[in-house]
Amino acid sequence: MQIMKLLKSLNILNITSKLFLKTKYWFKIVILLPFLLQCTTNEKSSEPYILSNDKSNEYRECISINNNWLFYKYKSAEEADNLIYDVRPESENYQDSKPADSKPTEAINIESERNILKPWIMPSGNAFIKDSIKHYIRPEGNPGNDFPFVQYNYDDRLWKNVNLPHDWAIKGPFMEGWDTEVGGGMGRLPSLGIAWYRKKIEIPETDTGKCIFLDIDGAMSYAMVWLNGNLVGGWPYGYNSFRLDITPYIVPGGNNQIAIRLDNPNKSARWYPGGGIYRNVWLVKTNPVHVGHWGTKITTENVSETSATINMEITIDNDSKNNISVSAATKIYNLDENGKLAGADVSNIKTPEVSISAGKSVKTSVSVTVDNPKLWGPLPTQKPNLYLAITEIIKEGKIIDKYNTRFGIRSLNFDPNSGIFINGELIKIKGVNNHHDLGALGAAFNTCAARRQLKILQEMGCNAVRMAHNPPAPELLELTDKMGILVIDEVFDSWERKKTPHDFHLIFPDWHEQDLRSMIRRDRNYPSIIIWSYGNEVGEQYTDKEGAEIGKRLHNIIKEEDTTRPTTSAMNWAKSYMPFPAVMDIISFNYQGEGIRQDPIFNDVKDRIKTEPQYNIFHEKFPYKVILSSETASALSSRGIYYFPVTKKNSSPTRDSMGGNSEEGQVSSYELYAVDFGSSPDKVFASLEKHAFSAGEFVWTGFDYLGEPTPYYQNRSSYNGIIDLAGFKKNRFYLYQAHWRPDLPMAHILPHWNWPDRIGDTTPVHVFTSGDEVELFLNGKSLGRKKKAKFEYRLRWDDVIYQPGELKAIAYKNGKKWAKDIVKTTGEPAGLKTIADRDIIRADGNNLSFITVKIIDNKGLFIENSDNVIKFSVEGPGEIIATDNGNPGDFTEFPSHKRKAFSGMALAIVKSIEGNPGKIIITAESPGLKEAKVIIKSK
Ligand code: GAL
Repeated sequence: MQIMKLLKSLNILNITSKLFLKTKYWFKIVILLPFLLQCTTNEKSSEPYILSNDKSNEYRECISINNNWLFYKYKSAEEADNLIYDVRPESENYQDSKPADSKPTEAINIESERNILKPWIMPSGNAFIKDSIKHYIRPEGNPGNDFPFVQYNYDDRLWKNVNLPHDWAIKGPFMEGWDTEVGGGMGRLPSLGIAWYRKKIEIPETDTGKCIFLDIDGAMSYAMVWLNGNLVGGWPYGYNSFRLDITPYIVPGGNNQIAIRLDNPNKSARWYPGGGIYRNVWLVKTNPVHVGHWGTKITTENVSETSATINMEITIDNDSKNNISVSAATKIYNLDENGKLAGADVSNIKTPEVSISAGKSVKTSVSVTVDNPKLWGPLPTQKPNLYLAITEIIKEGKIIDKYNTRFGIRSLNFDPNSGIFINGELIKIKGVNNHHDLGALGAAFNTCAARRQLKILQEMGCNAVRMAHNPPAPELLELTDKMGILVIDEVFDSWERKKTPHDFHLIFPDWHEQDLRSMIRRDRNYPSIIIWSYGNEVGEQYTDKEGAEIGKRLHNIIKEEDTTRPTTSAMNWAKSYMPFPAVMDIISFNYQGEGIRQDPIFNDVKDRIKTEPQYNIFHEKFPYKVILSSETASALSSRGIYYFPVTKKNSSPTRDSMGGNSEEGQVSSYELYAVDFGSSPDKVFASLEKHAFSAGEFVWTGFDYLGEPTPYYQNRSSYNGIIDLAGFKKNRFYLYQAHWRPDLPMAHILPHWNWPDRIGDTTPVHVFTSGDEVELFLNGKSLGRKKKAKFEYRLRWDDVIYQPGELKAIAYKNGKKWAKDIVKTTGEPAGLKTIADRDIIRADGNNLSFITVKIIDNKGLFIENSDNVIKFSVEGPGEIIATDNGNPGDFTEFPSHKRKAFSGMALAIVKSIEGNPGKIIITAESPGLKEAKVIIKSK
């Protein structure tokens, strides 16, 4: 049985099944196993494991119900049904291009006579409201039960068949122009609207007596769920995962009808939220007595290399009609690099019997000390070792539930004079912020796409991610755990005061406790999470004691759930003398460390939006608190685009003729330009080095994201990323790599050297290197050898007169040759070059390969200033699901197989087809150019 499971999980049953049929004895397969294992692990990039895969066992089932949903979206709000969660205020005169650091405003109160379903939805969050007196009681009645879409017999054959995770908006079309319904701020995509998902689920007779739950990892937004015509409940906040108990409405012995209504308001975010059931959905079946939802909490203390104490708290639910007594036994195992059990259990712990009354829950706790623990720590200096706790619930000697908890053992200490210590080692945060979208794939979560992002970040030397500004898909935290990346898990972008007319402020009063507690209960066992953030730049920074009180309430909720991690809330305005920062454990600055609008261009600006550098001021006021920068830089650039003249300063705001071009809607890639309240990376590096007590930085952002195209709101995606929306590295990548990976020999020259119109013109050349000195040559002639001065992070030759030919940079470190880079003037476009990030993928209908196409000349040199149109086609069992090029102003719909290259590059994302292995051939063609092909094996 175990072997069967292992083989199945490795997806090698297909290969072995023929052999098996002919083989009488299992041992032959066992002999073959090492060979087969090698075949599967020899892939160019091996597969990340996902926790969800091992949630099922003999005592509980966790079934993915992602496939074959029927989907219908109303064309307009006028056409939609009236089953609303609540009324919303009108949103007139809202400008989505207002600066991100604008002051949030007061909420608008509205009253309505309409029938609203909120009273039936509120009880879904009861488990996360501490004070049981405040629990919501479901009113009488069953709203919506007569509505056709919730009926079993409703004829939905004309609805669209979709698989989850599904983002209904990502295929577009983009809304171009001014005065569009959705503007640049939310990505110009049709995320707004009301839609339904329906699916019949087969529940066998044998499930009678079981508890059955619907687990939704994320639905955007205001989810309301009916089962067999009964309103079960829902969850408004689109970023949180939630569980609904559907047991009372299930009819075993046949099909049961699920109907889910989502209502995604416009003007609900400052970025692209996506729309739909955009994460995984599960059906969980347990015995009536079982480990509760997110029912284990594991913390570690007294951690050293020789020993560690593991504390475990288990919540056991008794959903049966009888009072019972049970005990829990937990075995703890090391996990190997592939997430598999590594040998026998390292510890075996039992809790004494507990009695649980019918319908109640009980928490039981136990501690154990393990010797020589394998610690979890961030790469590259530590290893992300993980453990698995397998808990069995035992009643009268019989196992009735089995529950897996993955966790890590690590110590976490904070020193206000140096930063964050993990397992005794000071780890300076070299982090980035990321929004949840995955570029051309939108909000629909995909493990391969998320893993590709994290790998690129690690290559840059990044060791931490802040989940801006909401809880991510659980699988992303599986990845950060596995890949050794630190995390700030953040819950809200707004509290009571609003940033956009329909953002979270509408439901903050009703839902903040449930959303905050549910984030922590879901995520508390991930060792990669080191800080909980209860807000980002909230309007309550401005409301003195009143705002600080709300902060205190949120801080206290976190402490009730988890005492092992500090709290924070990112501040772009609150100052050291205000009550707001006093509440949080860790001081998080957005941009305030470097100072805001300090450039002379803002000399005449007199209002609150200027701030002098704050590191020392806060450090003096709060000498006992760690200070970090939760957002830095907010630098802007478009990959491969350069504008002249180039500022001589090391950081500049962006304007026309100062790095920006409002007509073209692009920002120069000299990487010196930022939003008005931001700074170049160089300026941030210097400020961090001058304030060595700072714990480090989270750059805004790692990747470009959909929406918030500051400063050019006519476009659809951001300019902030170090890496563009397609996942292509901007020059900035190398600036961070040079600083964050000082031991990696590298040098990077900019700009490209194809400037036929600039012959004889001044064309600055900058070099990013992990060395300390560079000699630059143009056509073999030295332009001088320069050394980085203190607080300098690039070497610049600002007076180079352009002549076609070759630029060569020789970098030195401590006087010795260290690295080199060469950039040449290219010929005309002659061909295409394709590179796949993975050339072996799984035939599971979810696995992806990202195909990069570059335009090259007849010598094979990459032509950065080319923009030929590329046509992609596919043969074999794969699908091209999206293309992109990283241009924030490209309105070609993402599913298009034709894409104009941007700065010489384009991307095609290829997906396998479930159960259909074989060779996938992708061809990239462009008129007049030599085509290129790439072959991917789908296994
Ligand atoms: C910050 C904000 C981010 C993003 C960024 C853009 O103020 O926290 O969410 O808007 O600015 O520069």
